[in-house]
Amino acid sequence: MVFVQTSSSRPYHLLVFGASGFTGQFVVEEVARVAAEGPAGNLRWAVAGRSKQKLEKVLEQAAGVLGKPELRSEVDIIVADVGEPDSLEAMCKQAVIVLNCVGPYRFYGEPVVKACVENGAHHIDISGEPQFLEGMQLNYNSQAADKGVYIIGSCGFDSIPADMGVIYTRDQFKGTLTAVESFLTVSAGSEGGCIHDGTWQSAIYGFADSQKLQSLRRKFNHKPLPVVGSKLRRRGTLFYSNDIQQYTVPFMGSDPSVVKRSQRFLVEEHQATPVQYGAYAGIGGIGSIIKLMFAGMMFWFLVKFSFGRNLLIKYPEFFSFGLFSKAGPTRKQMEASSFQFAFYGEGYTEGQDPSQGKPNSKIRTLVQGPGRSNSPQRVRIAMPKKGGVYTPAAAFAKTTLIDRLNKHGIQFSVI
Ligand SMILES: NC(=O)c1ccc[n+]([C@@H]2O[C@H](COP(=O)([O-])OP(=O)(O)OC[C@H]3O[C@@H](n4cnc5c(N)ncnc54)[C@H](OP(=O)(O)O)[C@@H]3O)[C@@H](O)[C@H]2O)c1
Repeated sequence: MVFVQTSSSRPYHLLVFGASGFTGQFVVEEVARVAAEGPAGNLRWAVAGRSKQKLEKVLEQAAGVLGKPELRSEVDIIVADVGEPDSLEAMCKQAVIVLNCVGPYRFYGEPVVKACVENGAHHIDISGEPQFLEGMQLNYNSQAADKGVYIIGSCGFDSIPADMGVIYTRDQFKGTLTAVESFLTVSAGSEGGCIHDGTWQSAIYGFADSQKLQSLRRKFNHKPLPVVGSKLRRRGTLFYSNDIQQYTVPFMGSDPSVVKRSQRFLVEEHQATPVQYGAYAGIGGIGSIIKLMFAGMMFWFLVKFSFGRNLLIKYPEFFSFGLFSKAGPTRKQMEASSFQFAFYGEGYTEGQDPSQGKPNSKIRTLVQGPGRSNSPQRVRIAMPKKGGVYTPAAAFAKTTLIDRLNKHGIQFSVI
């Protein structure tokens, strides 16, 4: 997700760092498409990474897929390596925005954020790793504010649909929305599908290190967010949802923590009513439950030890029953797959006091889109006035992002 000051004197409005990765290559294609929507030359962009050869290949591939041979000669290549601070500094000095696709972020993310803050480039990532995201908030928020730099995390599938979906539901509700539950379902086409290994690795290291996340959170010294309206009941670890017609488990990704941080921001900075949030994911029928139980038990056991983590990393397909793979989904599989987030909200109609009695109104909204949805967008700027480290909803709640996503295949609707 991108906003662009097209007047900037820096050579590039946007740099895609990690363009040679599985996700980065698709981001490159999307940027090329979005750039073509504006007047020619309006968006100056380049690809960056540690291997010039791989970046050339990525441009060649994008040129072929999009039928734009000019990409090979018109898009510049910048070589930068996370392990070489000088190269990061040189990269960040040239860009208004660095769109960082280099992960796992716990290993590679911080030097890039640091270089961006120190050299005045805004930073956008697609991290789904709460430890990295919250660590950056703890360590760089005030420095980024001083420099007027925006560091905006979680701008991929984790956690734009969930975070902006809650904002959309709140904005569509007539009255005071106090709680939302989301149910994610993913459909693969006839060719099946899987998730790329990069996300598997981020999950392995995230679970292995979950203790550290708790101690990091204590450092913020936050007061609990006030509960307005009836307290949202937590559901069990496995239940059948009549709404999505399948067995359902709590969503294990970063969405709940991202939404909570957004809500805290909106309460503290805009005196908004906090919306309680519960995230769930559909897993299918009985067969999927059995697979998930086996995979889950093996994962929990192995992730605790370094030899176990090495095994998980070496054989993602085996240990995840094919859900993750080193090759990732094929283009065909991605094109045939889709996701749906159904949001069930409740609250109090206008004139009803949320501190009195039970919620008296409900709303249902949907965010849905194709399997491939890391789509950079130009949004009209009504972002927070100060720089800082932000979640998507903190940065974009008052922008045109939802409208832009609606026009680009990710639909937000009331149902
Ligand atoms: N939020 C979401 O919805 C979402 C979706 C997809 C992925 N992700 C996250 O995005 C990250 C990338 O995932 P992926 O599947 O694309 O992984 P990947 O295919 O392994 O790509 C990793 C990228 O990082 C680059 N890289 C590694 N070490 C580097 C270094 N020292 N200096 C510069 N670049 C370096 C790699 O460059 P080389 O090609 O030269 O090795 C490659 O371009 C992961 O953290 C994943 O969890 C999030």
